[in-house]
Amino acid sequence: MTITTFYHDLLLAFALMSVAVFVVLQWIIKAAYGRHNDGNLAWWWGPSIPTRWSWVVMEAPSSIGFAVIFFMGAQALSAAPLLLFTIWQVHYFHRSFIYPFKRKLKPGDTTPLLIPALAVITNLGIAFLNAAILSWSELGADYSHWLSDPRLWLGLAIFGLGFLVNRHADAMLAALRKPGESGYKIPRGWLYEYISCPNYLGEILIWTGWAVASWSEAGAVFVLWTTANLLPRALSNHRWYRDTFEDYPTTRKALIPGVL
Ligand SMILES: NC(=O)c1ccc[n+]([C@@H]2O[C@H](COP(=O)([O-])OP(=O)(O)OC[C@H]3O[C@@H](n4cnc5c(N)ncnc54)[C@H](OP(=O)(O)O)[C@@H]3O)[C@@H](O)[C@H]2O)c1
Repeated sequence: MTITTFYHDLLLAFALMSVAVFVVLQWIIKAAYGRHNDGNLAWWWGPSIPTRWSWVVMEAPSSIGFAVIFFMGAQALSAAPLLLFTIWQVHYFHRSFIYPFKRKLKPGDTTPLLIPALAVITNLGIAFLNAAILSWSELGADYSHWLSDPRLWLGLAIFGLGFLVNRHADAMLAALRKPGESGYKIPRGWLYEYISCPNYLGEILIWTGWAVASWSEAGAVFVLWTTANLLPRALSNHRWYRDTFEDYPTTRKALIPGVL
């Protein structure tokens, strides 16, 4: 099997897995972390590890793995691939090594080991697809004129917008818990007046921007994968808010203001 065949088979596998993940998370089982880790089906999920380290373990391959794969490519030192590499790392370095330590955790918060274990494998696959397409000449990477292409700058603008939305929304959630608190409150203000999960909307925008900026099938598959994970989660978070708080604003949607 050539590297090109392997690469395209992996792309197809992730596209198909996205559909399967969406079906499973929407209709069969909720990923058992955070508010949805209620101990139900604990036998199925198996042993757990501290949530903070679970985040580091599952996200680090997206930063370190991406860097290793990217710099194996002959085009790694070209300007546009390096720019795309940088924005990927800005997001994933923060997500892997800073964000886990900013989350306000419940005392003794744990996550089933199965979740980071599966995430390590899938995050490495996604990192491979997105890093190799930028710098591996054997896959046809050619971004030599990409700095003057408007798709790069449009994609970067969408990425930047998503980044700001995602970071601000996560920071607002972290600020809801005062020192020593571990419960849930209704988030108020800004995009939270319109939707329950602006952090997920921001995340989907980030990877939509990435797909446009890299103009790659890998980027498109990553948007599909992210949406397959976060849309069902947004819908179940939204249902959870409405079931938990009697005074939860009725006009608020789950993920897309005024729509869904
Ligand atoms: N690319 C992907 O496929 C992907 C997948 C998953 C997550 N992510 C990203 O990772 C980040 C975190 O995701 P997540 O699913 O953990 O988000 P989340 O469920 O919104 O929780 C984020 C943090 O805020 C706390 N929190 C949430 N709602 C709260 C409330 N009403 N009151 C007080 N605290 C509250 C949570 O505490 P608890 O932990 O105690 O619930 C957690 O520490 C997001 O930026 C998301 O976009 C990306």
